[in-house]
Amino acid sequence: MAHKIRVGALISGGGSNLQAIIDASKSNRIDARVVFVGSDNPEAYGLKRAQKHAIPTFVVDYRTIIEETRGRPPKNLLPEDFDLEVCLRRTRQRLSDASSDRVKAERYFCIRAIAEAALLREMAAYPFDLLVLAGFMRILTPYFIDRVNTDPSQLRIMNIHPSLLPSFPGADGYGDTYRYGCKVGGCTVHFVDYGEDTGPIVGQKAFEITPDDTIDTVREKGLKLEWQLYPECIQLFAENRLQVVFKTYTLENGTDVKRKLVQIAG
Ligand code: GAR
Repeated sequence: MAHKIRVGALISGGGSNLQAIIDASKSNRIDARVVFVGSDNPEAYGLKRAQKHAIPTFVVDYRTIIEETRGRPPKNLLPEDFDLEVCLRRTRQRLSDASSDRVKAERYFCIRAIAEAALLREMAAYPFDLLVLAGFMRILTPYFIDRVNTDPSQLRIMNIHPSLLPSFPGADGYGDTYRYGCKVGGCTVHFVDYGEDTGPIVGQKAFEITPDDTIDTVREKGLKLEWQLYPECIQLFAENRLQVVFKTYTLENGTDVKRKLVQIAG
């Protein structure tokens, strides 16, 4: 067996993707081992799944942090290395009402930085090669991303999303796919960037949506594919086969677009 990469995982809920990754690593189907599982939600069932396998866990309770910092977040809670201007400059999130409102945007990023600094403090105990978001339902800001991707040419945060991106980013990929009347659904693993579900795509799997399908069967079909896709993408990372490249394309109207893409070697 080749050298195993160390994978950290962040979850918010049931953790069926986490389970698929743990199973793949325990059965040596991937050259990886899960070194910690963190959650923003103390009730996440995925924490129990990790504990069953003696994987260290921690919780940074976002809800409590958000409640306790209602109003203006106390300056003394902000991490010393937090720079609001850098966050505002780098983010590509659609902050809905916050984007046009400086006070709201400031509040949003300050509270996230307090929570993310707590995540980073917990994670510091467990060195890792790759961080996987496995149903982690919080958007990460540039403050956190820059402290994990310390070498900007080496992306090392992956996310799994329940749609064929770039269609249907956001909180309910399968629901949005189904309600749109799509005849094909799917799931995507991508590297995390400063946007919302916009990072370079690592892998995708698709399934057919038939007239008999309901929202529940669409979710079932999708999740089954997620459990295959995530371990496969982690294995590509472990084999060092994921190369981030820049490509420039000229559109029909003559403008050039530059894209950051993942190329799979070998
Ligand atoms: C999965 O469907 C995953 O794609 C989705 O949450 C579910 C988590 O299930 N993630 C997102 O929507 C991220 N925006 P799990 O906890 O059973 O792995």
